[in-house]
Amino acid sequence: MKEKEVLHAAEIIKKGGIVAFPTETVYGLGADTFNPIAVARIFEVKKRPFFDPLIVHVANSADVEKLVKEIPLNAKKLTERFWPGPLTVVLLKEEDIPDIVTAGLPTLAIRMPSHPMALSLIRESDSPIAAPSANLFGYVSPTTAEHVREQLGDQVDLILDGGACPVGVESTIVSFLEEKPRLLRPGGVSLEEIESIIGKVEISQNEKGKPSAPGLLPSHYAPRTPIILDWDDKYLVIYKEKNIGLLTFQEPRNHLKFHHIEVLSKKGDLREAAANLFAAIRRLDRLNLDFILAETIPEIGLGRAIMDRLRRASIKGKIN
Ligand code: TXA
Ligand code: MG
Repeated sequence: MKEKEVLHAAEIIKKGGIVAFPTETVYGLGADTFNPIAVARIFEVKKRPFFDPLIVHVANSADVEKLVKEIPLNAKKLTERFWPGPLTVVLLKEEDIPDIVTAGLPTLAIRMPSHPMALSLIRESDSPIAAPSANLFGYVSPTTAEHVREQLGDQVDLILDGGACPVGVESTIVSFLEEKPRLLRPGGVSLEEIESIIGKVEISQNEKGKPSAPGLLPSHYAPRTPIILDWDDKYLVIYKEKNIGLLTFQEPRNHLKFHHIEVLSKKGDLREAAANLFAAIRRLDRLNLDFILAETIPEIGLGRAIMDRLRRASIKGKIN
């Protein structure tokens, strides 16, 4: 049954349509990389600015060689270790890749997802699939088909349902354009895992307001409800009339005053926390709360990706 749906989805892609599909990280909204008109529709539907390039998804390593000029040794080592999986590498692109895919950059972000539905969709489409996350620009990425339906619904030609995404945060992006590899976005493969294979990598300083990847603005992943990090307990007194939600890693320090509490992982497991993160933010965002308090998480392993998303999702300064 699922196979039939994937074949149908591949037909749509081949005809220039756009399809939302599951990956192990988050749901993507895909089109044929070599069909600029189909790719343009992705930008339109997401309301995504054209300066923000897409990731191209492949199903085998041989395809990568056709898409990029060369694969540096360290990039090869990483892809051999982590593909298929939540790793994206940025390399110099071949000329024939449409400019709309790369936002006019001479570089291309590529990854091989591990979700079986994503892999067979790419294979059956006979072309690499260009796909951003299947959410409106600036909002939290979808980790279920239902999330995609809520935001993009009938604007896409088909939504393939592959259940909840097991990783739950987007891929780690590593650029190989400079002498030293550079981490552009923390994600599903941890920095520690990457450095264990290729040694020290440079880290882009997103927090200082300079986006490391073109689309990674300091404020991103933002729900409608303000999220605040770096909480102070005195706020519970100051804002006692307010409806406050709590987003916490393990059991909360106190249950007082919170209208709703989302615990990311009762047993304190970072993988489980990452897998729950975006769905928990969406649930909180539906409750018409005055604001959401998010507790910080240790920045080790997947904690780095989780904190990166929380920082971008949070508001700076005070709430009213
Ligand atoms: O896990 C993922 O990576 C998911 C799934 C669907 O594969 N995709 C995803 O795509 O998160 P998107 O478009 O939401 O985020 C891709 C990020 C953007 O911040 C974009 O600016 C950056 O990758 N990017 C794409 N091409 C790039 C390039 N050539 N150089 C630097 N950054 C690039
Ligand atoms: Mg995105």
